[in-house]
Amino acid sequence: MAIQRTTEDLTPEQRIEGLREELRHHEYLYYVLDAPEWTDAKYDARMNELRALEAAHPELLTADSPTQRVGGKPKEGFAKVAHSRPMLSLDNAYNEAELRAWSGRVAGGLALGESVRYVCELKLDGLSLALQYEAGRRGEAVLKTGLTRGDGTIGEDVTTNVRTIRSVPLQVSAKKLQQAGLPQQFEVRGEVVLPQKAFAKLNDEREAQGLAPAANPRNAAAGTIRTLEPNIVAQRRLEFFAYFLLRGLHAPGDAAGEPLLSAQDIALQALRDAGFLVNPNARTVDSIDGVLAFIAEADAKRDSLPYEIDGVVIKVDAVAQQRRLGFTGKAPRWAIAYKFPARAAITRLEDVRFQVGRTGKVTPVAVLEPVSIGGTTVTRATLHNADEIARLGVRIGDFVSVERGGDVIPKITEVVEDAKHARGTQEIVFPTLCPVCGSELVRAEGEVDWRCINTACPARVREELLHWAARGVMNVEGLGESMVAQLLGQSPSLIGDESEEEEVMETGEPVQVAREPLVHSIADLYTLKDKRDEILALERVGEKTADALLLQIERSKKAPLARVLLGLGIRFVGERTAQLLADHFGSMDALMKAKAEELEAVNEVGPRVAQAIVEFFAEEKNHDLVKRLQALGLTMEGEKRVVGTALAGLTFVLTGTLPTLTRDEAKERIEAAGGKVSGSVSKKTSYVVAGEEAGSKLEKAEQLGVVVLDEAGLLAMLAG
Ligand code: IVH
Repeated sequence: MAIQRTTEDLTPEQRIEGLREELRHHEYLYYVLDAPEWTDAKYDARMNELRALEAAHPELLTADSPTQRVGGKPKEGFAKVAHSRPMLSLDNAYNEAELRAWSGRVAGGLALGESVRYVCELKLDGLSLALQYEAGRRGEAVLKTGLTRGDGTIGEDVTTNVRTIRSVPLQVSAKKLQQAGLPQQFEVRGEVVLPQKAFAKLNDEREAQGLAPAANPRNAAAGTIRTLEPNIVAQRRLEFFAYFLLRGLHAPGDAAGEPLLSAQDIALQALRDAGFLVNPNARTVDSIDGVLAFIAEADAKRDSLPYEIDGVVIKVDAVAQQRRLGFTGKAPRWAIAYKFPARAAITRLEDVRFQVGRTGKVTPVAVLEPVSIGGTTVTRATLHNADEIARLGVRIGDFVSVERGGDVIPKITEVVEDAKHARGTQEIVFPTLCPVCGSELVRAEGEVDWRCINTACPARVREELLHWAARGVMNVEGLGESMVAQLLGQSPSLIGDESEEEEVMETGEPVQVAREPLVHSIADLYTLKDKRDEILALERVGEKTADALLLQIERSKKAPLARVLLGLGIRFVGERTAQLLADHFGSMDALMKAKAEELEAVNEVGPRVAQAIVEFFAEEKNHDLVKRLQALGLTMEGEKRVVGTALAGLTFVLTGTLPTLTRDEAKERIEAAGGKVSGSVSKKTSYVVAGEEAGSKLEKAEQLGVVVLDEAGLLAMLAG
C-alpha cells in the first residue's frame, strides 16, 4: 500500500500538507477558474496518495483536508441556527419605469446631486446560503457552518452538504487571506444553483427510477441541499456563487453580518482573490442607462448560460450610501431585483394525445397551436396525468397559458378566461384502454398514473428497446428510433425525422403494424444475426448499416452485469443502484433469488426499490427474458468491481462506538467498497477502526502493529 511510499526526505506531515496544498490549488483551477492544468487521472492519483497517507496517519487528519468533502450524514435532520443578520429578500422591478422609479427613490435618499454607482449582477435562480468561516490554527480561515435562508432569521445547518460543493473552499490559506485583504473570520453569502446539465442528468435518473421529474433547477437545488445523504449531494454537482462578504460572528461590537469592505465591487474582487467562485458577469455602472444596457446583455445571454437566471440584481455600490438608505420592512432600499418577463404565452389547446412509456405509464400530451415563447416555437406541452387535467379544468379548444423554462418540457399553467379568449367545449376524456394495444389501463392504489400493463404492448416494447440500446445503457449504436420502428414492423416514415419534438408527439399515435415484426423483445435482438436478409429488406438499410448494427448488437453482449441490469428497466433501478446491486450480489442469479430484506441490505436500496425488484422478477415474462439473455451469452456474472475497489483485498475489524456510523452501517459500507469485516484482530487484519470505548481489540491491534483508524480515516478510504 501507499504507506511505504514516502521515500522522499519529507516527514509524513510535510508530504500530507504539500499534497493538500497542491490539491486545493488544482481544485480551484478546475472548479472556480474553469482552467484545469491536471488531467483527472493525475488529480485522482494525488488524491489517493493523500488518502492513503491520512489513513496511515489518522492523527494528521483535519476537517479541511480535500479528502474530507464527503463526510457522515447528519443524524437527525438539520439543526436550526440563527443568522448573524436576517437574510432579506429584494423588491422587484418588472420594467424600465419601475427601475427608474427605484433609482429616483435612491437619489431622494441621498444628498442632492450625489453620484451613485450601481453594481449589476445576474439574478441566479437557486437558493441563498450563508457560510461562516472561522480562524484556523495556522492563520487560515476554515469553513465552519453553512446555513440555508430558512425563514430569513433562522436557517438550517446544511454544513455537511455544503462541504461537498467543490467551488466552496473548505479553507482559505493565510496567504490568500492576505492577498484578498481579509481577516480570518468572515461570512460569505451567495446562491447555490444546479447547472442545467446536472439538472438534466438528475431528471434522466429520476425518470429511469419511475419518479416524477423535478420541475426546475431551483427546486432540484433546494431539494438537493436538504438531502440527508452527503454522498448523493456530492454527485449532483451543485455550484455556489458568492455575492456578499460580511463580518464574521465574533466581530467586535454589534458588527457581525455587516459588510466587511467599503463597496460591493471591492467585496466581489476580494471574494475572487480569496478563491470563491464569483459570477464573472457583474459590472459596475454609474447610471440607470448603464443598468439597462447590462440587463439587455444579460437577457441576450440568458439561453447560453450553463445555469438559469431569472433577472438582474442591482446594488448601490458604496456601503456608506447603503447605510444611509437602509431597509424597508423586508428588503433593502439600496438594492432591487429586475425580473425578466416570464417565458409564457397564450395559445389554444388543439388536441390531447396519450403517450405510452416504457413502464406502461400513460402521459397526456397537449397539442398546441404553434406559438413562439422566448424565440422557440412550442407545439407540445405535458399535461402530466389525469389529476393535472382535472386540477387545471382544461378542455380541448381552451386558450391556455404555456410556460417554458430552460431545458424543461413546456407546461400548461392555467386556462385563460377573459373577453378575448373563448373557452373550449370538448371534454378531455382520459382513455380507459391503452391507445396503442387496446388493453385495459390500470391505476394502482395511491398512484396518480394510469398504466398499460400489457407487457407485449408495442409502445412499451419500442420504449424498452430504445432504453436497452441507449448510450450509457447497452450502447447499441445504430439502434435508434427509426431502426427500432422498422424492426417492430412499422414504417420508418411513421416515426418522422429523429428530432426530439417528433419523438414526444409520435409515440402517442396508434402504431400501425405494416409488416411482420423481426423482434418482439430485447432478447430477439440477439437472434437478428440469423435474419440478415430480412434486415436488408428494410427501407433505407444497406449492407453496411445492417452489418454495423449486427456487430454492435454482438458487441453489447460483453457489457457488464450492471448495464444489463440497468437495461432491463426495472422501476427505480437507475445507473447507480444497478451498479450497487451488481457489486453486492455479483450475479444475476443471486439477485433474482434475493428476498426483499436481502435487497434492502444493499446500501441505498430502500423498501420501495426492493419491492420493485422483487415484483419485476416475479413476473414470468421478465424471468424468461433474463433466462433467454443468459442463454444467448450476455454477461450475467459480476464484473470486476469498478465502483467497489477502494477497499478490495483489505480486512477490517470494528471496535468501539463510532461518532456517526453504526456498526452495521460501517460494515455495509466497507463491504460495498470491496473490503471484508472480521470479528477478531490478527496479523492478517489490515486496519482496526476504533471509536469511543474501544477495548481489547484496540490493544491487540497495537500489540500486533496493525494500523488503527478513526471513523474519519475510514470515511476517507471509502471515498476512494
Ligand atoms: S442579493 C438583501 N444577489 O434573489 C438580499 N440575491 O429576490 C440580497 N439572488 O434571496 C440578495 N442572485 O436568493 C442577491 N446576485 C444576487 C442574486 C440574488 C440571486 C436571489 C437570492 C435572494 C433573491 C431575492
